[in-house]
Amino acid sequence: MDCLREIEGKQAHDPIFIEKMNKFSSSSSSSPCLCVPGPLIVGAGPSGLATAACLKEKGVPSIVLERSNCIASLWQLKTYDRLRLHLPKQFCELPLMGFPSDFPTYPTKQQFVDYLEAYAMKFDIKPRFNETISRAEYDATLGFWRVRSVGVKGKEMEYVCRWLVVATGENAEAVVPQMEGIGEFGGDIRHTSLFKSGEEFRGKRVLVVGCGNSGMEVCLDLCNHNARPSLVVRDTVHVLPREMLGRSTFGLSMWLLKWLPIRLVDRFLLIVSWLMLGDTARFGLDRPRLGPLELKNLSGKTPVLDVGTLAKIKSGDIKVCPSIKRLKRHAVEFVNGKTEKFDAIILATGYKSNVPSWLKEREMFSEKDGYPRRPFPNGWKGECGLYAVGFTKRGLLGTSMDAKRIAEDIERYWKEEAKHRLAFTHSLLQQSSSP
Ligand SMILES: Cc1cc2nc3c(=O)[nH]c(=O)nc-3n(C[C@H](O)[C@H](O)[C@H](O)COP(=O)(O)OP(=O)(O)OC[C@H]3O[C@@H](n4cnc5c(N)ncnc54)[C@H](O)[C@@H]3O)c2cc1C
Ligand SMILES: NC(=O)c1ccc[n+]([C@@H]2O[C@H](COP(=O)([O-])OP(=O)(O)OC[C@H]3O[C@@H](n4cnc5c(N)ncnc54)[C@H](OP(=O)(O)O)[C@@H]3O)[C@@H](O)[C@H]2O)c1
Repeated sequence: MDCLREIEGKQAHDPIFIEKMNKFSSSSSSSPCLCVPGPLIVGAGPSGLATAACLKEKGVPSIVLERSNCIASLWQLKTYDRLRLHLPKQFCELPLMGFPSDFPTYPTKQQFVDYLEAYAMKFDIKPRFNETISRAEYDATLGFWRVRSVGVKGKEMEYVCRWLVVATGENAEAVVPQMEGIGEFGGDIRHTSLFKSGEEFRGKRVLVVGCGNSGMEVCLDLCNHNARPSLVVRDTVHVLPREMLGRSTFGLSMWLLKWLPIRLVDRFLLIVSWLMLGDTARFGLDRPRLGPLELKNLSGKTPVLDVGTLAKIKSGDIKVCPSIKRLKRHAVEFVNGKTEKFDAIILATGYKSNVPSWLKEREMFSEKDGYPRRPFPNGWKGECGLYAVGFTKRGLLGTSMDAKRIAEDIERYWKEEAKHRLAFTHSLLQQSSSP
């Protein structure tokens, strides 16, 4: 069998591990195979890096696999130029290393990427790039996960590990909606993950579909580059100012939640928003029946933190439109019967998890949406050494909480096994030294 075996760290001398691996080697398929003594982490975004760092700090080595050619590929390759963190930096830092003190409250995308690069360097995390996980399955006979990856030029590889950490993110794939006439439209149609700047749309009529944080910011960027954006709003949406009463809206909400019930905090947020922004329904942005925090808790739907888009909607620089009925050659027909001409369409329709496409497991992860079935804060751990980091719908704050818990949990098993290994080696030594 063409099986390349690399056993690293302490387990290189672990007789139990070696015996199991020998059994595995003789039953494995023809692709090269790497036996990983510690956890295998899929994804080198903030979640994968945070978990690898927390494990490292506890003396547990791990391997990180990443489908693209860099860390934090979502941030480096799939976000627009004007992006900044929406939440103040103290809510976005990863465990064990804060942001540099000279960074602004809301770091730019490049500053965040620089921080992550420095983080990976500090904890000596060197992901194996250009490896897309195509399949991972638990082998109950062996008691190990078998993880298959596809590299450049289709080169396949198999990893065998005791612990598998899923860190592929809530935003692994772009959501592209079905729209009648999509093949007919003559202009550019692209998802926000491919939008960099409004510069290339200067002077053009652009329809932005979706009013989450991406759609709102892309509209603002288009305005700032003298394009003519319209925004499709198909449902209700909470728009809140990014800051209120001199503090970040997020920070203030977290603080108030320590003392007040969620409904009262929501009431407070809505009153202050109304005072600062006015009645958003007047501009075509009806608010949901539930308050912003309650809605976030129940459905995961993030409120929009306004960074100037609302003013452009009020001034008429951004037009609000209802749902799309169908696309035509150079125009869009809306459900209210109106038809308008557009040169380009930008889909700000969000993202989805890709876990069901590669993880052959249905207990922990839902096949429907690719998220852990158990809600926050209990979704991080499954059976048989399976973990999830970064699926809390709570951004980087959720990532940090998951990463710390996972590292603590794996450390316990790792130390227990180290004790067994030591005892086993001792008894072997005693046997060999006795006459
Ligand atoms: C435009 C935008 C702005 C955001 N701003 C904020 C913010 O300000 N604050 C905040 O807290 N959150 C923000 N988020 C949420 C964002 O999800 C988190 O900030 C963060 O990126 C999550 O990290 P992650 O590692 O879980 O996922 P990701 O950053 O998506 O990383 C997952 C990694 O897994 C890799 N991967 C996926 N599938 C496979 C596979 N099959 N095999 C191998 N590798 C794979 C991907 O290539 C990727 O590198 C934002 C999201 C977007 C889209
Ligand atoms: N600066 C920042 O920090 C920043 C910037 C951008 C994004 N983000 C974060 O990144 C994540 C993704 O944000 P996102 O804005 O890309 O996605 P999102 O929050 O999922 O929003 C997608 C939007 O598209 C709408 N939509 C989906 N399909 C549609 C269709 N067929 N027709 C019309 N509308 C449709 C949705 O409407 P419904 O609500 O009706 O489904 C929703 O308004 C979020 O966590 C967000 O907070 C952060």
